Amino acid sequence: MILAPSILAADFGHLAEEVARAEQGGATLLHLDVMDGHFVPNLTMGPAVVKAVRRATRLPLDVHLMIENADLYVDAFADAGASWVSLHVEALPHLQRTVAHLRGRGLKAGVALNPSTPLVSVEEIAPELDYVVVMSVNPGFGGQKFLPGSVDKVRRTRDMLRRRGLTAQIEVDGGVDEGNVKALIDAGAEVLVAGTSVFGKGDPAASARRLLEAAR
Ligand code: DX5
Ligand code: ZN
Repeated sequence: MILAPSILAADFGHLAEEVARAEQGGATLLHLDVMDGHFVPNLTMGPAVVKAVRRATRLPLDVHLMIENADLYVDAFADAGASWVSLHVEALPHLQRTVAHLRGRGLKAGVALNPSTPLVSVEEIAPELDYVVVMSVNPGFGGQKFLPGSVDKVRRTRDMLRRRGLTAQIEVDGGVDEGNVKALIDAGAEVLVAGTSVFGKGDPAASARRLLEAAR
C-alpha cells in the first residue's frame, strides 16, 4: 500500500514539518489538491505552491488537478516538480492527448472519476494510464464523509483492469480512514489518499502509522 497524505488538511504555516512527520510515519507519496473555483467550488493552490513543497520534501508529488482546461497547465505543474498528475475525465474532452503528453515527459498519468461517473468512461484510456483515481467523495473539500459505494467501484475497477490485462494502479481519494482502509485494500486499491485522517488529528506520524497498521 502507498499512503499519500493530502496536504489540504495540513497546517499551511508549518507545511514542511507536517510533511516530514507524515513521512516518518510511513507515507511514501504526497497528494496535492489543485482546485480552480470552476470545476469544483473551492480554490486551493497552483504551481508556485507545488514548487515550494517540492523543495520541502523528497517524497514524489501526486498532483490532483480539479480544474478546467487542465491541458493548459500540466507543463507548469510538471516544471514545478510533480511526478504523478491526475486529470478528471469530466473536465477534459481530449484526455488522451494530455495523458500521452504527460507520459512523454516521463510523468505518471492518472485519470480521476467523480462518484457519479461510470467506470466505463475510463475504459478506452485505461491501457495508457499509470493509475485510476476512484473519488470516494465529491471533490472540492477535505473532511467529507466517505461514500460507501466506493468500495464496490474499486472492486469493479480492479476487475475491469484485470480482464483487460492492465497494470494501472487504483488510487482512492476522499474520506479514507482507519475504518475503511482495509476494505479498500481488499477490493484492489493500492494508493490511499488521506487528508483529515493524517493531518487532522494530532501527530501526523502516529496517524499515518495507524492507517498503515489498519490496512494490514
Ligand atoms: C477532495 C480532495 C481530497 C481531499 C481528501 O476534493 O481531492 O484529496 O483532500 O481529504 P480527506 O482525506 O480529508 O477526505
Ligand atoms: Zn485529491
